[in-house]
Amino acid sequence: MRYIKLRELEVSRIGLGAMGMSHGYTGSGTDDAESIRTVHRALELGVTLIDTAEIYGPYTNEELLGRALKGRRDKVVLATKFGLVSHAGDGAWNLDSGPANIRTAVEGSLKRLGTDHIDLYYQHRVDPNTPIEETAGAVGELIAEGKVRAFGLSEAGPDTIRRAHAVQPVTAVQSEYSLFTRGIEERVLPVLRELNIGLVPFSPLGRGMLTGTVRSTDQFDENDFRRDNPRFTGENFQRNLALADEVKALADEVGATPGQVALAWLLAQGDDIAPIPGTKHVARVEENAAADTVTLTAEQLERLSSLPPAAGDTHTEAQARMLER
Ligand SMILES: NC(=O)c1ccc[n+]([C@@H]2O[C@H](COP(=O)([O-])OP(=O)(O)OC[C@H]3O[C@@H](n4cnc5c(N)ncnc54)[C@H](OP(=O)(O)O)[C@@H]3O)[C@@H](O)[C@H]2O)c1
Repeated sequence: MRYIKLRELEVSRIGLGAMGMSHGYTGSGTDDAESIRTVHRALELGVTLIDTAEIYGPYTNEELLGRALKGRRDKVVLATKFGLVSHAGDGAWNLDSGPANIRTAVEGSLKRLGTDHIDLYYQHRVDPNTPIEETAGAVGELIAEGKVRAFGLSEAGPDTIRRAHAVQPVTAVQSEYSLFTRGIEERVLPVLRELNIGLVPFSPLGRGMLTGTVRSTDQFDENDFRRDNPRFTGENFQRNLALADEVKALADEVGATPGQVALAWLLAQGDDIAPIPGTKHVARVEENAAADTVTLTAEQLERLSSLPPAAGDTHTEAQARMLER
């Protein structure tokens, strides 16, 4: 495993997204023992960047990681997120990045994760009711107190990134980025490069579809959120299957899996990019971590880059309302 720097923070090129172990996807929360083995295997393979959020569950994903990382905390660059639970307000799925809410959130996350510091603390979504300067200032105080090492933003637009960074340097922005979702390339990525901020692509496997293993939504549990996702419905789904098949054809040429090719393409976009593929299976974390060794030729990269993005919005309407676009 190679390592890169997201600003000052050294992380493995390939991280591990823990969300699906407890939340959102088929099988979430059904096999915590395998999820914990997956975290342990990731660490053995040199994966250091592990990603969670208080909203995943809510809370159960952080609790699971707290159990998994017992005695192993020093091997991990632990990232979590605040701002989608309003503790004094209406609870989960309500934007609140006010300083008082961040204070409450951080204490809960530290306790659940069983640690005295969070390595990378992201605002999960921009809160239109709190000036980003106040949020950045509040995280800056936590950094001064040693409870947090570095500040991150998720799905923030270029102006918010600049304003936050002017108050408290931003170490990384976490946004969706993959062969399916390339929206950040035009306006966000140039700002990150100008300000020396790292990028952590989430859903780098197109929520599973780029691995070629999703062939029908009948594979999904009733509560799998992809069932309502525009990319996984109707004609969009068929078009996206065809795209995934093109990635598979190239992967066959390379002698890698489609998921590895999707990750290798992301790694080739720059040394300031550390994707966090999500899995709760040991075999898959092994496969994903090995993407670090897959090399694509310039011609193969070009073929991948010229694929059209996925059909359909990557969010439902309700989710999209929380995005800064
Ligand atoms: N900041 C944000 O707003 C935000 C939003 C979404 C996600 N995230 C973070 O980003 C992480 C990754 O994103 P994601 O989980 O949404 O999407 P993803 O990494 O694109 O895909 C995850 C899906 O792919 C499957 N999968 C993973 N590796 C596989 C492999 N080698 N072969 C076949 N299937 C494989 C997983 O299934 P199994 O788990 O069953 O293996 C899961 O269903 C999350 O865990 C979370 O930490 C952040």
